[in-house]
Amino acid sequence: MGIRVGIAGVSGYAGVELLRLLHRHPAVRITALSAGRGAGRALSDLWPGWTGAALPPVGRLDVDHLAEHCDVVFLALPHGVSQTVVPALLERGVDVVDLGADHRLTDPEAYAAAYGAPHTCPELLSLATYGLPEQNRDVLAGARLVACPGCYPTATAIAALPLVEEGLADLVFSDCLSGISGAGRKAGPRNLYAEVQESVTAYGLAGAHRHTPEMEQALGVPVVFSPHLVPMVRGMLATVKVRLRRPVSGEELRDLYRERYARHPAVVVRDEVPATRDVRGTAAAHVFPLVDIRREVATVVSAIDNLGKGAAGQAVHAFNLSRGLPETAGLPLVPLLP
Ligand SMILES: NC(=O)c1ccc[n+]([C@@H]2O[C@H](COP(=O)([O-])OP(=O)(O)OC[C@H]3O[C@@H](n4cnc5c(N)ncnc54)[C@H](OP(=O)(O)O)[C@@H]3O)[C@@H](O)[C@H]2O)c1
Repeated sequence: MGIRVGIAGVSGYAGVELLRLLHRHPAVRITALSAGRGAGRALSDLWPGWTGAALPPVGRLDVDHLAEHCDVVFLALPHGVSQTVVPALLERGVDVVDLGADHRLTDPEAYAAAYGAPHTCPELLSLATYGLPEQNRDVLAGARLVACPGCYPTATAIAALPLVEEGLADLVFSDCLSGISGAGRKAGPRNLYAEVQESVTAYGLAGAHRHTPEMEQALGVPVVFSPHLVPMVRGMLATVKVRLRRPVSGEELRDLYRERYARHPAVVVRDEVPATRDVRGTAAAHVFPLVDIRREVATVVSAIDNLGKGAAGQAVHAFNLSRGLPETAGLPLVPLLP
């Protein structure tokens, strides 16, 4: 019994986090797993911590197999790969929750500019539902193709949405710190311990990062985005700043955030600055808004787990909404401590 789900990309970081959440989800049954180079290997070989779990074998990415065994497939694949299987999956009656970037941007030209190649199924871009529950809860009901937001856009949007919706911001500055797992499991010099430990750097500055157009699409205002890589495994901290269009007191701002997120179980409005450890392993975002009255600048700090609220946790949240399940079914909302 239960909704039959598949995970494509289970040998990667987002895929194995999906496995952790979906394995304990009360309404689903995992019926297919796939990998790229890892296809055909035992799950316990890819992830020794999963030794002994009763799960399907890890096969290759095969639409026929997925269509036969699944009602929904979660895709944790590099951008460019998802779009090769999504049309056939939808046609075969399988719903898709895509954690990658292939269906987030609605404008095919914006996609080609950001990802360096034209989209092979541009008609799907207008069909996909952007899976940010705090923005699209109602339209996610019944969605057949969910485009899960990127981790940086999630942290930034949760911090900036109340300000933008209230007409208080016409330009958003977002400085984000990301743990190294944000780059995926593939080997590369940027991910090596010797390169990242005891060192912090910025990259993708001045509009160069692919997540910038996604943030601007979600918020509807220009965003100056500065991502940084920090030496930790998981976690993301966004410090978002806007010059306020009218004077706002600290109390007014806190009330605005409390009210905006009152009905959203995955967002906690805090009275002090959150840390990434407060959300480790969770599908939650913690936010703290404050005002510099003299400079008329609002600063909002948001903390997420890049693999939780920034990827698998949010994907499961959006899936719950798309299927009319209890919104928090299977969602971890308290952290792994210390
Ligand atoms: N990491 C994050 O914090 C994060 C956050 C939000 C969104 N995302 C998105 O989630 C997706 C997965 O990210 P990740 O960090 O999990 O990456 P990853 O660790 O590199 O995993 C990628 C997965 O895709 C598989 N794969 C690669 N090329 C394939 C192909 N041609 N055919 C079939 N399978 C293929 C890989 O299999 P093999 O390794 O076996 O080849 C692996 O299972 C990406 O689109 C990423 O942007 C990631």
